[in-house]
Amino acid sequence: MPIPRRLAHAVTLALCAVLPALVAPPASAQSGQQLYTQWCQGCHGNPMNNKDNVLGGKDWNIIKLAMDTKPTMTAELRPAYNAGLINDETFQTIATYLQTFGGGVVAALQMPSAITFGTLNVGVASSVTSRNISTTASSNAAVQISSVTSTNPLEFVVVSNTCNGAFVFPGSPCSVGVQFTPAAAGARSGQIRVTSNGTGSPQTFNVSGTGQSGTPPPTGSLNVPSSLAFGSQGVGVQSAAQSINVSNASGASVTVSGVQTSSATEFPIVSNNCGSVAAGGACTIQVAFKPPIAGSRVGTITITSDGSGSPQQVTLTGTGATAPPPPTANKVPAVEYFNASLGHYFTTAYAAEIAVLDSGQVGGWVRTGQFFYAYDVTTTGTNPVCRFYLPPEYGNSHFYSAIPSECSAVLVQQPAFILESSTAFHIASPNPTTGDCPAGTLPVYRLWNQKADTNHRFTTSVVIRDQMVAAGFVAEGYGIGYTMCAPP
Ligand code: HEC
Repeated sequence: MPIPRRLAHAVTLALCAVLPALVAPPASAQSGQQLYTQWCQGCHGNPMNNKDNVLGGKDWNIIKLAMDTKPTMTAELRPAYNAGLINDETFQTIATYLQTFGGGVVAALQMPSAITFGTLNVGVASSVTSRNISTTASSNAAVQISSVTSTNPLEFVVVSNTCNGAFVFPGSPCSVGVQFTPAAAGARSGQIRVTSNGTGSPQTFNVSGTGQSGTPPPTGSLNVPSSLAFGSQGVGVQSAAQSINVSNASGASVTVSGVQTSSATEFPIVSNNCGSVAAGGACTIQVAFKPPIAGSRVGTITITSDGSGSPQQVTLTGTGATAPPPPTANKVPAVEYFNASLGHYFTTAYAAEIAVLDSGQVGGWVRTGQFFYAYDVTTTGTNPVCRFYLPPEYGNSHFYSAIPSECSAVLVQQPAFILESSTAFHIASPNPTTGDCPAGTLPVYRLWNQKADTNHRFTTSVVIRDQMVAAGFVAEGYGIGYTMCAPP
């Protein structure tokens, strides 16, 4: 005969109260009802009555949660759980049993999966990512949400939220939208905290992302040498050009808008091909030095561009050197004569020749009053001057050159000309590149009459030069017609 239900209940109650653990058979062998009767009924009574909301245990997670959050249950169940007398399977089996009862409120929220925002530049906001918050599958009642907050409101902001104050019904979720703005580089994280009247409140879900340092847009830059030294250079004489190499080692092209010198006369820009300088490209500015006075000289080249650090400057340095004064020893006048009947000029530095012409032994030649100085012996800084006689069919006149290469060329090209001397006198010659005479010397212009009866005139006078050019002569020689450089 079966034991009356009421009695069985009483016996179980007694056992439960006195020796719950010692008499427990293995959990797996018992039904949900048996387990409930053994472990729960003493406090909760018949599940039908849903005492202390025991039917919330239709979700076994809630039983487990209650074990640790309801002090009465904790005292009773935690030691048994720790001792292995009950386990998750026990709760699952009991939950299955509780599910056979109608009624009871099961109301818990299901937290969504974490939001991972990926990598964003610091200070740049992500797009909004939304998550649904619903009730758990076993819930049978609405849960009212009282607040949705971020534990890291600076970086993870709840920007949209249909949940606050809402009742979340089974099958009818609400939505929370979160935006991420990293405040610093590296891994960033937070939690969205949902407070409700549901079981297990407050609940959270994780939000995370990575901040990276923003890289500014690329700006090009030019590498420019800080200085350029010219060394010593004769006063008034322009040096050879030196190069300023400008390179672009940056990742972006740079446009040079200006290259300026502090003095176009002292530090002239000889060439400049700097315009748009591509990334990795280069350009060159050539500058020369022409000191106006002696002593140390300083200038600048200023390079203006759209690169960083513009304008950039190159400091130019050099020393103006005063040329040693031309020697005065063995200085002799080269005296000019004119023969009116021939219409020819003639210059000679030979004292004997001067004496003969001055004596009138050779008819028709008179001094013009013009002369320049030369040397009658080999002298430092001078060249020997060749003197050719041009036979009558070529003009019956004389021709001088202080430029050795010109002397050689005339010898080859004009075999009829007679080389009277390779050392008619000694005098400096102009710089073959610039045409300039050495500092401290006077330019000697050479003028040619352009006629069949060739005749040349040599003069240090600009006025005479211009008169002769006006009369149809041609200024020959380097630059504007320097062919010799006479000591003053
Ligand atoms: C020693 C007494 C005791 C035992 C044993 C006990 N409970 Fe409870 N239980 C309580 C009390 C008291 C509450 C209500 C506490 C409160 O709401 O503060 C409670 C609450 C609950 C709740 C509601 C939790 C919630 O979040 O609302 C569930 C579900 C529950 N118990 C299930 C069980 C189950 C299943 C067992 C057996 C495995 C069990 N209890 C064993 C005393 C007990």
